[in-house]
Amino acid sequence: MTGELSPIDTAKFAAARRAADIVENGMQVGLGTGSTAAWLVRCLGERVCDTGLQIKCVPTSARTATLAREVGIDVISLNEAKWLDLTIDGADEFDGDGHLIKGGGGALLWEKIVATASDRMVVIADSHKKVECLGAFPLPVELIPFGWETTKKLVEQVLITLGFEEQNSILRMNGDQNYRTDEGNHIIDLHLHRIPEPRQLASLLNQVPGVVESGLFVDTCDTVIVGFGDGGVEVRDIEKK
Ligand code: 5RP
Repeated sequence: MTGELSPIDTAKFAAARRAADIVENGMQVGLGTGSTAAWLVRCLGERVCDTGLQIKCVPTSARTATLAREVGIDVISLNEAKWLDLTIDGADEFDGDGHLIKGGGGALLWEKIVATASDRMVVIADSHKKVECLGAFPLPVELIPFGWETTKKLVEQVLITLGFEEQNSILRMNGDQNYRTDEGNHIIDLHLHRIPEPRQLASLLNQVPGVVESGLFVDTCDTVIVGFGDGGVEVRDIEKK
């Protein structure tokens, strides 16, 4: 399944393989999106085909759904599942409190809904994703298309109120078209450099009409499995405050 991997892919694969071992027979599992989550889906597919593991999975994007079906995983909708035992997903950044930036791959809305509807969220990430303070990675914010330029300005006003002086919000593009999420929405990426109060920012962004969700995942993650370039892993359980 792996062939010759770069250190970064070795780290992603190692974290994903460890997370796949947590999954037990009969579980309903949320499947994340991105290159690390794709390794997880392949590892789970291998367990399903080789050992007869019986699971039902809810993917967080159309592309994860396609991959999951390809590797033999039973895919159901969140409405069918109603609630999940576990969600395993990647992240763009995680801090020491287990707060995350997600949405680099554009799937933040379904990812947040699925993670919230789970007894446990496990994040799988290579060690470079660990930060002291969130924000070096641009924060994705999903907006509905109606009046998105006005919504973007309202978001910028919130940032000014919070004292973000050096900020830059950029509409995500797909070639020469505005990027569309699986829900048909747009994304703006906020270049904030440092987000010292992620809880406050997440709450204020969600109050702007037209904002569907932000990529700040606060108090959502229960465990981070960190992968390293030599194939080692570290499992960190997050103490919720
Ligand atoms: C997609 C995400 C991904 O989990 C995040 O972008 C990490 O991706 P990768 O595993 O490819 O580094 O949030 O919306």
